[in-house]
Amino acid sequence: MSVDPTQSSPEIENLLAETRTFPPDPAFAAQANATADLYIEAEADFEAFWARLARERLDWFEPFHTTLEWDLPFSKWFTGGKLNISYNCLDRHVANGLGDKVAYHWIGEPGDTRTLTFADLLREVSKTTNALKELGVGTGDRVAIYMPMIPELPIAMLACARLGAPHTVIFGGFSAEALSDRINDAEAKLVITADGGWRRGKPAALKPAVDEALALTPTIEHTLVVRRLGDDLPGGTAMSDGRDVWWHDIVDRQSEDCPAVPLDSEHMLYLLYTSGTTAKPKGIMHTTAGYLLGAAVTHQMVFDIKPDDVYWCAADVGWVTGHSYIVYGPLANATTGVLYEGTPDSPTWERWWQIIEEYKVSILYCAPTAIRAHMKQGPQYAQAHDLTSLRVLGSVGEPINPEAWLWYQEHIGRGTVPIVDTWWQTETGMIMITPLPGVTATKPGSATFPFPGIAADVVDGNGESVPLGGGGYLVLKRPWPAMLRGIYGDPERYKATYWSRFPGMYFAGDGAKRDVDGYLWLLGRVDDVMNVSGHRISTIEVESALVDHQSVAEAAVVGKNDPITGQAIFAFVIPKVGIDANEALGTELREHVAKVIGPIAKPKFLMFTPDLPKTRSGKIMRRLLRDIAEGRALGDTTTLADGGVVETIREKSGTAEE
Ligand code: WTA
Repeated sequence: MSVDPTQSSPEIENLLAETRTFPPDPAFAAQANATADLYIEAEADFEAFWARLARERLDWFEPFHTTLEWDLPFSKWFTGGKLNISYNCLDRHVANGLGDKVAYHWIGEPGDTRTLTFADLLREVSKTTNALKELGVGTGDRVAIYMPMIPELPIAMLACARLGAPHTVIFGGFSAEALSDRINDAEAKLVITADGGWRRGKPAALKPAVDEALALTPTIEHTLVVRRLGDDLPGGTAMSDGRDVWWHDIVDRQSEDCPAVPLDSEHMLYLLYTSGTTAKPKGIMHTTAGYLLGAAVTHQMVFDIKPDDVYWCAADVGWVTGHSYIVYGPLANATTGVLYEGTPDSPTWERWWQIIEEYKVSILYCAPTAIRAHMKQGPQYAQAHDLTSLRVLGSVGEPINPEAWLWYQEHIGRGTVPIVDTWWQTETGMIMITPLPGVTATKPGSATFPFPGIAADVVDGNGESVPLGGGGYLVLKRPWPAMLRGIYGDPERYKATYWSRFPGMYFAGDGAKRDVDGYLWLLGRVDDVMNVSGHRISTIEVESALVDHQSVAEAAVVGKNDPITGQAIFAFVIPKVGIDANEALGTELREHVAKVIGPIAKPKFLMFTPDLPKTRSGKIMRRLLRDIAEGRALGDTTTLADGGVVETIREKSGTAEE
């Protein structure tokens, strides 16, 4: 269901009580980047807090004169300043003697590797920027990027940033249709792509989707194509004369001399499209100075980044997590990162743990869906490797169930490594709600507290703060440097989507509760809230109760229309490997939920399934599960990672037991 904004009883029932707490380890706290004083400093004057950091952490060609111009809901940060992001990510580090430091350890899926130092990256980015100019791209022109996880992907982004040509990265798994829609909305001039990439041991072509998309995109003048697969791609790659240019033909012969263009603080850095449920995708706009500051500061404090760390964010660069925490934040902090092309199960479920052992990864940042996938296989794969280099573990993308949190800490983090559960969005650009390692006592499943300077609150349907212990809607009450500057070409939609539900507040679209200690618990999107007999129950609480059972690997829950109770709970459950998913287990699980949360939350329907429909960034597409539960035709499936999954579930759904 979607929540009716005019409804007057918005509180979300606060049912699942998680009481375990993990105080910071004093030894970690003694060396931590973050300190409790930051909260005090930022609360006293949040503008002064960000201004101090902007002066300390960024290099400016010209200093800013004004920290914040706030014309609600439009913000401008650090006006008057001029800077360049690629300069901040590369040139200044090389100038400071870090040219030989590794920027990326890249690992291809077949096992090929490439190491790029900051000096290598600066050289490649400079040459690529010169190639963009030769292809007619100027400051302000939009460039679409549609690539696998290869080093040329961050190189392309940084080259755009060096020139001030806003990029829009379209995830390499999206369809031709999704690509052409986004290119047309952005009116991009150039597409940077590759012949393909490796996926689960097989070459997967990318260029044919570009060719198909380009039949519908009048603004594109050229494509720039990296040769990743070459002769491994059966049939090769068709290149269109005059339009398509091989990367190695044009980039390799460019000069390495290419000074970064000084850009205004508010110059547009990128557009990133988030899929709306029905309407066309929204082009979320991010600009230069505030975005970079937010990404860099949060990265350094939330992950406790030190000069010798080897940091791995196992997301895809095509997602905002990759923009902020694989590319811009880490490089601004001169961090050594791992970039991995493939999936966690290829060639085996040991792959991630092998990489961590071999590269001595000290910080891992990934999504709960990945953690649960590993949980489903069991801890033996991780146990076969030395993971003692790890010292901080992060989670992002969806609420993490307490059981997955505990598994992550126990089996990956030796029971002691701090876990940072970070809440944020494409729109926020930077981590907004998170523990600070060494400072915050954590509770499994809670993202804890707003980052210093961030004003987050939980409000009822009238926009009033709910008392401690209550649930409601998550809002942000103060501008922050990395906030979106709007929806590209549609200021009215920006106001309507984010700023009209509660006047003067940013509405994140998530439900949240705050426990009696003031900890924030994210409850998922508000359209993931079910209404059973007048009780609003969050899908995540029921899912966590199911995953809490020893036989369950993963669960997704939706509301199904019910003539008596309004909605009834329909649960889709993936059993752990080796578990016999029979009717008795179904009954046991439903009882288990009743026991853990209460009879009101007991699923009326429960179905075992081998898989769940997910977006490429790993979010469960509950919208499609709702369609299945209701027996309806499926809505838009363009962002679905594996179309076959839905059909398998649908065939079985007639057999859901009641
Ligand atoms: C969800 C991803 C709970 C949330 C960075 C948000 C989370 C949406 C968390 C944004 C978390 C992200 N706990 N929920 N730690 N992190 N979310 O734009 O619903 O892909 O609104 O940005 O993911 O997803 P997006």
